[in-house]
Formats: sequence, C-alpha cells, structure tokens
Amino acid sequence: MALVIRRLEEHDEVENFDCGDEALDNYLKRHAWTNQEKISIGVSYVALDANAPRTVLGYFTLAMASVPRDAFPKKYVRGFPPYDLPLILLARLAVDRRFAGRGLGHALISEAFRISLHAAGEIGCRCIVTDAYRDRVGWYARYGFVPIEGASESGPQKMFLDIRTVRAALQR
Ligand SMILES: CC(C)(COP(=O)(O)OP(=O)(O)OC[C@H]1O[C@@H](n2cnc3c(N)ncnc32)[C@H](O)[C@@H]1OP(=O)(O)O)[C@@H](O)C(=O)NCCC(=O)NCCS
Repeated sequence: MALVIRRLEEHDEVENFDCGDEALDNYLKRHAWTNQEKISIGVSYVALDANAPRTVLGYFTLAMASVPRDAFPKKYVRGFPPYDLPLILLARLAVDRRFAGRGLGHALISEAFRISLHAAGEIGCRCIVTDAYRDRVGWYARYGFVPIEGASESGPQKMFLDIRTVRAALQR
C-alpha cells in the first residue's frame, strides 16, 4: 500500500472509520473537521491509501496545551522558569482496526513527530504530551514517552516526550 498522510479535508470519507474506540471514532466523524476549520482547535492529519485517496485509515490530531511545571519530574524541569510549560498535545491517534498492526500507527506518530519538531522550532516548545489509554502506555513507551506521575489510577495516563529526543531520533 502506498501510504499518504495529509491534513484532513472536508470530503474525506470518515463515516466507516472503526478503530474499536467509540470516542475516537466519533471525534473523527463529528468534530475533527469543525474543530480544525471553524474554530481552530486542533488540526487532524489522516492516513490514506494513494489508490483510494478519500478513505481514512487512521488519523491523529495535534493541538497546543500547557501542563503545570510541578506535574513533571523535578529532574526534568530543573532550571525551567516557574510557570506552566507550553507544549504540543498529541490529542488523538487511531488506526482503523481492519488495518491495525501494519505499521500505520508508526507512520502516523512519525509524521506527528516531524510536524511537532517543525512547530517547536518556529515557536519554541519543549515537549509533546499525550493522554494514553492504560493499555497503550507500552506502545507510546516504545517511542520514548515517559509517564507523568500523579495522575489518577484510572483513566488515561499522561505521558511526555522531550522534543530533543524526537530530534535525535529523526536525525538518526
Ligand atoms: C494504538 C494504535 C494506534 C496502534 O496502531 P497500529 O497501526 O496497530 O500500530 P503499528 O502497526 O505501527 O505498531 C504495532 C506494534 O506495536 C506493538 N504494540 C501494540 N500495542 C502495544 C502495547 N499496548 N504495548 C506495546 N506494544 C504494543 C505491536 O506488538 C506491534 O509490534 P511490532 O511492530 O514489533 O510487530 C491502534 O492499535 C489503535 O488505533 N488502537 C485503538 C485506538 C487507541 O487505542 N489509540 C490510542 C489512544 S491513547
């Protein structure tokens, strides 16, 4: 399959998207386009087969956010100013389950890293954060994401990745 990853467009086919998680499916179907184009909250990027260039196979959404300095490990924020850290939020990431396990997740997160690195170079921000489902923590850890402690035991696990780790990985 020749994979293409680009910004979500209005007439992309999203209605049959099924990653197995209703909230992530629903976001793509009902909110992604409006949030991106009408209210400028988050931009979504979609993975498509070049031979069927409207059918969305996977997507991720990036937005800006901030996290209190105290939420990070002390060692990590030593020397940082005493205010919330501005950062890039990997707000959503999902692959249609009919295409799972074929490297689409890897291709999507790699593109998210490339965009984040560019944005961080232009506006200055130190890390990427995501709220990982508990059963996906291991998947994000493969890319170097580190849990931010102090979150509740249930619900998603907040994780961060230093932009310099991304830069080093992409330069390899
Ligand atoms: C998580 C998700 C994006 C991964 O996408 P994918 O296209 O299946 O992933 P890839 O094919 O790139 O990677 C699969 C690899 O990750 C590994 N993997 C999968 N889940 C894992 C986990 N929880 N912990 C560690 N490794 C995991 C697989 O064993 C496989 O390893 P390999 O490359 O050595 O064979 C996808 O499963 C998905 O959309 N799930 C439902 C929605 C979701 O949970 N999104 C994340 C929200 S936080």
